[in-house]
Amino acid sequence: MDYSDIAGDLTEVLLTEQQIHDKIEELARRIETDYAGRNILLVGVLKGAVMVMADLARALKMPLEMDWMAVSSYGSGTQSSGVVRILKDLDTDLHDRNVLIVEDIIDSGLTLSWLRANLESRGAESVEICALLRKPEAAKVHVDVKYEGFSIPNAFVVGYGLDFAEKYRNFRDIGVLAPHVYA
Ligand code: IMP
Repeated sequence: MDYSDIAGDLTEVLLTEQQIHDKIEELARRIETDYAGRNILLVGVLKGAVMVMADLARALKMPLEMDWMAVSSYGSGTQSSGVVRILKDLDTDLHDRNVLIVEDIIDSGLTLSWLRANLESRGAESVEICALLRKPEAAKVHVDVKYEGFSIPNAFVVGYGLDFAEKYRNFRDIGVLAPHVYA
């Protein structure tokens, strides 16, 4: 595939497809061990987590179920406020389920901290988080992430499901968006 149009919008490739693949395999081995014999429900957060979910679910050599939520954070501009609205709820009853939330990126942490509390209140046996990326410098609240892929600098990244204005989700690597794109 020719990505030359996309490459011009990036300042650098932060993580290659291969690095992402290797990390997801590594996380999958840990999850298989931790959840052996337990019924695991992967909950993907639309839309950014679609690629992580698809790859993680297939890397996991164990029975599992998948469900999806879509949430939107009220806020000014690009700033997350922590006040979250559910746009699409789960179809699954969480009673006695072992829920693993699958996320693309944790920025301020506000969305995920709200989501975790929300899912815990539905009677799940356990709720844990798997996030491919985390920006420690952007954290506004502490979120306990059991399965973390990469810690990255506080820059706006796209690709592998992550978008800017709905674009770049299909770029296979993860790159830093050039300021001229959003300036
Ligand atoms: P938080 O509530 O600030 O942690 O917001 C997390 C959400 O913001 C993620 O699920 C993404 O949808 C979005 N987001 C945060 N940082 C980035 C980024 O660098 N690129 C693309 N989306 C991002």
